[in-house]
Amino acid sequence: MAEPFSNIFKESKIFANREVLSPHYIPNHLLFRDAQINNIVKFMTPSLRGERGRNLFIYGKTGTGKTSCMKYVIDKIRELPSLKAKISFVNCRIYNSRYRVLNKITSDHMPLYAKRGYGIIDIYERIINWIDEDGKVLIVALDEVDVVRDLDDLVYTLTRANSDIKSGGIMMVGISNKVSFKDDLDPRSRSTLYENELAFPPYNSKELGEILKDRAANGFKSGRIEGEAISLAAAHAAKESGDARLALKILSKAGEIAEEKDLDCVTSKEVNDAAKEADEEIAYDLVYTLPEHQKLIVYAIALLSGQGSKYKKLTEGTDTYIFSGEVYSRYAALADSLHREAKSSRWYRKYISDLEMQGLIVTYESGKGIRGHTKLIKLAYQPDKIKSIIEKGLFNETEATGEAAR
Ligand SMILES: Nc1ncnc2c1ncn2[C@@H]1O[C@H](COP(=O)(O)OP(=O)(O)OP(=O)(O)O)[C@@H](O)[C@H]1O
Ligand SMILES: [Mg+2]
Repeated sequence: MAEPFSNIFKESKIFANREVLSPHYIPNHLLFRDAQINNIVKFMTPSLRGERGRNLFIYGKTGTGKTSCMKYVIDKIRELPSLKAKISFVNCRIYNSRYRVLNKITSDHMPLYAKRGYGIIDIYERIINWIDEDGKVLIVALDEVDVVRDLDDLVYTLTRANSDIKSGGIMMVGISNKVSFKDDLDPRSRSTLYENELAFPPYNSKELGEILKDRAANGFKSGRIEGEAISLAAAHAAKESGDARLALKILSKAGEIAEEKDLDCVTSKEVNDAAKEADEEIAYDLVYTLPEHQKLIVYAIALLSGQGSKYKKLTEGTDTYIFSGEVYSRYAALADSLHREAKSSRWYRKYISDLEMQGLIVTYESGKGIRGHTKLIKLAYQPDKIKSIIEKGLFNETEATGEAAR
């Protein structure tokens, strides 16, 4: 058989089960999350008993286990005998509007009805009648809820449903990794969604090490990865953000590198190479999916990091920090050259905190002495890399000329 085909079914020397190392895999036990899991269950208990509980909002940085814990809880709950509550888990990246979310609920629980393409009012009434039939409670978990386009409408509709329902009701569980999201909401939606709140802190290096060890034991063949290499992968991810997804990505990539090189064992060397690659991929994914104005802000930071005049940027070791005010002016100029209206400085501050939450930038407040108190910003990735990603993604779509980039 020709070489590329004969490799397809060749047994891996390194991996026992690649799937276990994938970020989509949900392990059957989640480490260091007992408190969060117990709290989710506690907040859901009234609904599980058939009384509508208060809504819950779960937040924390990316890769802190929010989705995994929610899915874990749902799986366990579904095993309970004679459960009165019905549950819909909605990935809002896919179901990103009120209509799509309501449709997802009907297709989860009334599949025959969902196929017919009804309008929103029909779907709404159908859901109400279905709940009213026997006074059931519906728990709707909205993962990545911040991407729902008409979220205020969705929250309003589900809240309104509760007053239209005679017995039973709907409990919402919102999940998000955006810090400033709460401030963006209409005050009414905010007080509705945040009736209860639950934070997921980032993992530290030791915790990530334990999570990786656990996964490596099933993902790698025995003796095919050095213990030191696992700790190093954990340390890399802890230094960046405490993100378990990144830690796993580094680990599985290191395995792939070892396999490509036909090595007997994954060592620290492969982990270091993998960390570099994973970093670039993550930057790419993050930047590529940013909304336009946030892309422009990141682009302004990348441009300034590469070329800022010496009294406007601060260099500490190899790190370059830029004044926030200067980033804003550059962003506004970029927006202008693309015939876009620049967002106000209030929005700008929100975007900056979102970008920091996503791990794309690092900020700190300067002490006294540098123009009083001001925010300093640094890119978490190499400026020239970020610059070229954005130039590909943004300027191809917006017919911009080189003008904007200068
Ligand atoms: N406590 C844990 N124990 C074992 N694995 C974990 C744990 N926390 C996270 N993971 C793993 O890390 C990866 C990312 O976790 P998850 O998707 O739950 O994060 P998240 O908080 O939802 O992130 P995002 O905000 O980006 O959606 C998954 O592969 C998951 O299995
Ligand atoms: Mg998630």
